[in-house]
Amino acid sequence: MDYKTLTKDELEKQLASEQKVLKKLAKEGRVVDMTRGRPSSEQLDLSVPMFDTVKDADFISQNIDVRNYGGVLGTKESRELFAEILGVKSEEVIVMDNSSLSIMYDLVQFAKQFGIDGHTPWNKLPKVKFICPAPGYDRHFAICEALGIEMITVPMLEDGPDMDLVEPMVKADASIKGIWCVPKYSNPTGITYSDEVVERIATMPTAAEDFRVFWDNAYCVHGLYDEDDKLKNIFEVAKKADTKDRIYEFASTSKITFASAGISCVATSVKNVEEIKSHLFYKTIGPNKVNQYMHALFLKNKEGVLKLMKQHADILRPKFQIVDKALSDAFTDDKFVNWSKPNGGYFVSVDVKSCAARIVELAKSAGVSFTKAGATFPYGMDDYNRNIRIAPSVPSEEELEFAMKVFVSAIKIARMEIVLQKCFSD
Ligand SMILES: Cc1ncc(COP(=O)(O)O)c(C=O)c1O
Repeated sequence: MDYKTLTKDELEKQLASEQKVLKKLAKEGRVVDMTRGRPSSEQLDLSVPMFDTVKDADFISQNIDVRNYGGVLGTKESRELFAEILGVKSEEVIVMDNSSLSIMYDLVQFAKQFGIDGHTPWNKLPKVKFICPAPGYDRHFAICEALGIEMITVPMLEDGPDMDLVEPMVKADASIKGIWCVPKYSNPTGITYSDEVVERIATMPTAAEDFRVFWDNAYCVHGLYDEDDKLKNIFEVAKKADTKDRIYEFASTSKITFASAGISCVATSVKNVEEIKSHLFYKTIGPNKVNQYMHALFLKNKEGVLKLMKQHADILRPKFQIVDKALSDAFTDDKFVNWSKPNGGYFVSVDVKSCAARIVELAKSAGVSFTKAGATFPYGMDDYNRNIRIAPSVPSEEELEFAMKVFVSAIKIARMEIVLQKCFSD
């Protein structure tokens, strides 16, 4: 709809009529939460049989009773499981408790407190910066903010971060110590990095010798369709280029088994594994190995994981289709609204023109919550007020139909308000 072709009177009438639509939806008194990418209860139910696997178990892994202290790097079987999923060697993997995010936080803290590989601790440097492709994952940016790391925003393109901007910056500036990457089914745009981008990240010259790539492969097995996006194995490139110490790769079973009771890992060079182990020694006498043991019994291997992920996909796919259909029905060929059509992951990313915050506010007034506008950018600064992240996993299909009616109506209202203000304000 090109509202600019309407007279002021016509536009005001249309706006009033759309406001009525939203009011009517609000009157239904429903509450739909689409703020975070959480698995639904139906998805979580898929892994409840995991508890049966330990009914008659002996709890022994490599002659160690997993119910006891020890094994700071994780059980052999869980290390092998993540190694197979990520295409690395098991000695390159440390498995810990739930939350890969907490490992990321710890690794930044270790670098700040102790330094990496003999280099000056980041705490002692006047400034430490990270490259933050945006839109990106708000929690990565939150770690930087909490720990005093300056964020440099670079645009996220269709094939990954804009490497033409990243390369010269990291080459010239030794205070740039890291880059956040969600390389597959990226949060929130859903894209998967191209081979070229993976190669450039793994091999680019960096002024900082202690530069680290935080390769958050949170959605490594989270395809929605039979045809899965292919992500180049960054370790294969880094091993050839002799840059493997630069890579910290993360994954977890938060969206495979249980978000609150999964297992997580970091994969990196054996040298880095030893360094991280030296810090973990003081932090813990060992992770929850019972959970690691149980996960390995339940999931077995990569094939077992992929089988389970197919069941997740069967639950998630119709929800993504509802979102896409609602947007397509309302906004096909409309340049004001663009949205992603991801092959996997947990999000649909919507771009509008200069009114994301207003749309989120209007939707909230009718009971539908989205992640705060701006959250997908460092410092919450979405300069063009454009990006909204939709997380369709938790609501039922019926709730989603409702939420999308609200969302579409909120977009139309916000847009008409802009046109009225821009074209007809005296
Ligand atoms: C990109 C990304 N990384 C990490 C996480 C959190 O992972 P974990 O539950 O393993 O801490 C999420 C959760 O939404 C995510 O989207």
